[in-house]
Amino acid sequence: MAEQNETRCDLMMFGALGDLAQRKLFPALYQLERAKLLHPKSRILAIARKSLSRDEVRGLLRECLQKHVKSGEFEQAVVDCFLERVDYQCLDFTDPGGFSVLKDWRSAEPSNLIVYMATLPAMYGEIARNLRSNDCCDRNTRVVVEKPIGHDLESSKVINDELGEVYNEDQLFRIDHYLGKETVQNLIALRFANNLFASQWDQNHISHVEISVAESVGIEGRWGYFDKAGQVRDMVQNHLLQLLCLIAMDPPSDLSADSIRNEKVKVLKALRKITPDMMDAHVVRGQYTAGTSAGKPVPGYLEEEGAARGSKTETFVALKAVIDNWRWSGVPFYIRTGKRLPEKLSQIIIHFKPAPHYIFDSDQKHLANNKLIIRLQPDEGMALQILTKDQGLDKGMRLREGPLELTFSETFETDRIPDAYERLLWEIMKGNQYLFVRRDEVEHAWLWVDQIMRNWDESGQPPKRYAAGTWGPVASIAMITRDGRSWYEDA
Ligand code: BG6
Repeated sequence: MAEQNETRCDLMMFGALGDLAQRKLFPALYQLERAKLLHPKSRILAIARKSLSRDEVRGLLRECLQKHVKSGEFEQAVVDCFLERVDYQCLDFTDPGGFSVLKDWRSAEPSNLIVYMATLPAMYGEIARNLRSNDCCDRNTRVVVEKPIGHDLESSKVINDELGEVYNEDQLFRIDHYLGKETVQNLIALRFANNLFASQWDQNHISHVEISVAESVGIEGRWGYFDKAGQVRDMVQNHLLQLLCLIAMDPPSDLSADSIRNEKVKVLKALRKITPDMMDAHVVRGQYTAGTSAGKPVPGYLEEEGAARGSKTETFVALKAVIDNWRWSGVPFYIRTGKRLPEKLSQIIIHFKPAPHYIFDSDQKHLANNKLIIRLQPDEGMALQILTKDQGLDKGMRLREGPLELTFSETFETDRIPDAYERLLWEIMKGNQYLFVRRDEVEHAWLWVDQIMRNWDESGQPPKRYAAGTWGPVASIAMITRDGRSWYEDA
């Protein structure tokens, strides 16, 4: 990053001792320190309920950096310098009177303020009100909140209304950490900097799109949270629909936050509602049973620690989404995401239509469509599968499929790809909202997934089982096979 932060920003971190702050946020802030992107005078106030001294908290943060920063990137001198910025305040977030100490911290050295609410979303409104009643924020304060914003459209409106009472929309930074991933931002570069693709990006040239976000982990001790959420709320409503929007949106007129977000909202509005009669053909819900992961036996979802019997919560979902607009008419988007799948893998495959008139050996006709494979993680890069002639006198005009390959780490000799939170925190400091989700995006995404979950509730059907370590219920294969297609890894 060749930029410098000329604006001093102080940061109040609510929930500073929680998992997100310790695993992601402090390591990301440390990396910004290491990249010399933090203004020399910026301060960080860690805020949590536990009664600890500043030195105890600094000690905890040192341990957390040791654990979560790669050893080659852990530099003692930088850590010391970073921890010097950190102060600690023990606070009950529900006690308005307690917030007056924050005002003292704030007015000691006025600066731009970032308030990061790494807490349960149910706390957002109360924290915002308490900050306001103690004069701790002003028109320049930037407020950062995490997903999930609610558990359905109605509850998200309540949270957004509460935040909206205190802050304007241009002060709110709603995080979807997928938007901070370098490779996800690369979708914007790929699509709008390369006319080659721009002219091919529609129903005339693309037959279908596949988006897979697979995880090999289970629910990692988060049964309490996950069972209330499920894979649709946890992954589809946010990450998967954001990816779909970036693939499907029209070109924005510029890179400003609202130009991009306006185009994404148009896509969300054009998503065809999945009505009860469409469920069988368009939605597969799965839940993992015992199986294996990385060669070791693992328990099923209902046998995980803390599990309640008979839960119908989905740990896998496959969807066939239809976008009702001119560009995507007749082009299904097959989306799939799940826990305890064979590997951690996020990729998007754009399947182009075959040439209009086929003249090669008929037994190779299945090869005849180009594919653009965009690998988001791991092994970030892209490959364009093209057809060439097989080499050799004996091969005639036999075709062969091969990649035009770009692996970012090799081609650009990148030392490290920054974690999503580094990028996001840096954009917040600069006040740039283009990688953050606007209220109407959140609401349109809820509107679409709410309908699916309502259909499940009404049908009462349980999720289909799949063994841990497999690619989900066979029904998800059947869903795409009925359309004469297959998931990329089955092809
Ligand atoms: C989070 C979900 O938003 O994203 C988790 O709550 C999921 O359940 C995680 O594991 C996946 O993120 P990543 O960056 O590891 O793909």
